[in-house]
Amino acid sequence: MSIDIRSDTVTKPSPEMRRAIAEADVGDDYLDGDPTTRQLEATVAELLGKERALFFPSGTMANQCAIWALAERGTEMYADYGSHINDWEMVGAAALAGVQLRAVQGEGPMMEAQSLERAFRAPAPSAPRASLVCLENTHNSAGGLVTPLAGVRAMHDVARNHGCAVHLDGARLWNAATASGTPLHEFAQYADTVMVSFSKGLGAPIGAALAGSDELLVRANEHRKRLGGVMRQSGIASAGALYGVRHNRDRLMDDHDKATRFSLIVDRAIAATVAPPDSNIVMIDLTPGLSAHDVVRRVAEHGVKVGVWSPTRVRAVMHLDVTMEQVEAAGEAVLTGLDEAWRALGDTSEWPATPRR
Ligand SMILES: Cc1ncc(COP(=O)(O)O)c(C=O)c1O
Repeated sequence: MSIDIRSDTVTKPSPEMRRAIAEADVGDDYLDGDPTTRQLEATVAELLGKERALFFPSGTMANQCAIWALAERGTEMYADYGSHINDWEMVGAAALAGVQLRAVQGEGPMMEAQSLERAFRAPAPSAPRASLVCLENTHNSAGGLVTPLAGVRAMHDVARNHGCAVHLDGARLWNAATASGTPLHEFAQYADTVMVSFSKGLGAPIGAALAGSDELLVRANEHRKRLGGVMRQSGIASAGALYGVRHNRDRLMDDHDKATRFSLIVDRAIAATVAPPDSNIVMIDLTPGLSAHDVVRRVAEHGVKVGVWSPTRVRAVMHLDVTMEQVEAAGEAVLTGLDEAWRALGDTSEWPATPRR
């Protein structure tokens, strides 16, 4: 048995997606425009209710070009403490855009309007100005949590009251829309720019898009070029993305159902707790004394790959390449690995093993 649920980025293109890629109409995206990429960009712009969208090789590059286009050099930007932009983008805001990132710790698992409001500095001649707020929905490190529309609007309003632009890291906005029943464009209306990823729940091998106004996208396009992000016959990549947008959005609820099933199985463990998931990500919080590296290694010995998220947190992400049966088997394997790790802690003979309900 080998089941990989470390991330929703591990999916491989299906035969139908590969056919769409092989048969894609292509051209030089810089010189004349690649027809398939143009089609993808128009489709995404329409779904998000924006004037224009631009295809990027990765979500990280799209996020960084958005920050660069929106924030003013020498000012501050605000983002959630656990956001991808703060944790995983190599200090890009400072290195590229010349912006200082102030990470906001939410009262709960992620930033909300009150915490954002409190984080703003009192205006003073010597206080740095802020120019940008970045949101993330669904929120990866918070366990795929969805910020409902009212929460997004509230953070947008705080940002606007402080004269800031808003960027939405919507790598998994597809999942947020599916889980909440809120259309994509309703979320997107509260952001100047929105990044969406094709290489996660939608199952494409490569790519992301940035959507926004014509004017902002002209600037983002300059930054993309500066970073070497112009791809020539980009239709080879965008055809997979377009296939994912057309065929794999409606099935995202299956991944959310798998996450719920998986979480219910793993939550039986004595050695961990699992919060009910909103979408396709499940975070497993270990009992003190257990190490995520140790648990992940043990679970791998039972044929299941899950990821170390922090020293005490293990992450599992559901996707289109795992069936419900595999997810159930994976849940049992994680339970076994957790029990083994728990017993290895020492003499726990007075503790019962995880009851097999
Ligand atoms: C919330 C979020 N934003 C951005 C990214 C970056 O996307 P990419 O891997 O395409 O650079 C990721 C990737 O996992 C993510 O989870």
